[in-house]
Amino acid sequence: MTARRIDGKAAAAAVRATVARIAADFRQRTGRAPGLATVLVGEDPASAVYVRSKVKATAEAGMEGFSHSLPDTTSEAELLELVERLNADDRVDGILVQLPLPRHIDSDRVIAAIDPAKDVDGFHPINAGRLATGLDGLVPCTPFGCLHLLKAELGDLSGKQAVVIGRSNIVGKPMAMLLLGESATVTIAHSRTEDLAEVVRHADIVVAAVGRPEMVKGDWLKPGAVVIDVGINRVPTADGKSRLVGDVAYDEAAEVAAAITPVPGGVGPMTIAMLLRNTVVAAHRRAGMADPEGL
Ligand code: GUN
Repeated sequence: MTARRIDGKAAAAAVRATVARIAADFRQRTGRAPGLATVLVGEDPASAVYVRSKVKATAEAGMEGFSHSLPDTTSEAELLELVERLNADDRVDGILVQLPLPRHIDSDRVIAAIDPAKDVDGFHPINAGRLATGLDGLVPCTPFGCLHLLKAELGDLSGKQAVVIGRSNIVGKPMAMLLLGESATVTIAHSRTEDLAEVVRHADIVVAAVGRPEMVKGDWLKPGAVVIDVGINRVPTADGKSRLVGDVAYDEAAEVAAAITPVPGGVGPMTIAMLLRNTVVAAHRRAGMADPEGL
């Protein structure tokens, strides 16, 4: 058996097209486009690539982008001052501070300074708490994108056994909360989990977000499982170059799973689509309008 390859690029394009339609409608009704501010501190090349894609996608969706690139010598006080300015700027509906931040800056403090209504990353403790208690808030983009792909694949997730590998605040924990919200039976596994293979073997749904190249093997999987691979790991190749691999050994997993996301082209594009989605939703709520339909 060969698993269905879940096309995250196509799913993301569909979400982005809907967002663009809603953004145009918002602009017509309010006289301004939804606005997203991005903040990049320092020179981390991967972060620079991610932020550039987010800025480009913002423009393509017909939204206003406010791009801030700061040197890695920026102090925490200066960054907090910028966040305050963006909080107060009515043209800005969403604020994204790209992580990781330089070591001398406390990212928890920066995240907590963002207006929760503009926290399109969904990282603020208020939004994490809303997600955990089942209240409407803003949901972290990567797990939200994973959920979108899972629902498209499986429909109702109620009663399914789901194993999330990874317990980060960015992916693992919010992913578990989203799956629980869909009435799945959720296990959160992580680097200390004993006999991870045995835990994974019971899962109808596997979400791998550990950051270890090809750690999840094909023979760990229950036949027919749906596998979402959040990993983006750069590994060296024999010819001295490098390639991107996920947290799942794709080829062998595809022999056992019913469906699996590739790396690249799976979860990655969905993260950006959900960021745009969160931005138009934040714009509507801030304008006192009902949440847009179709997202
Ligand atoms: N770094 C890795 N993933 C993310 C993300 O989703 N948002 C932000 N702001 N930084 C990240």
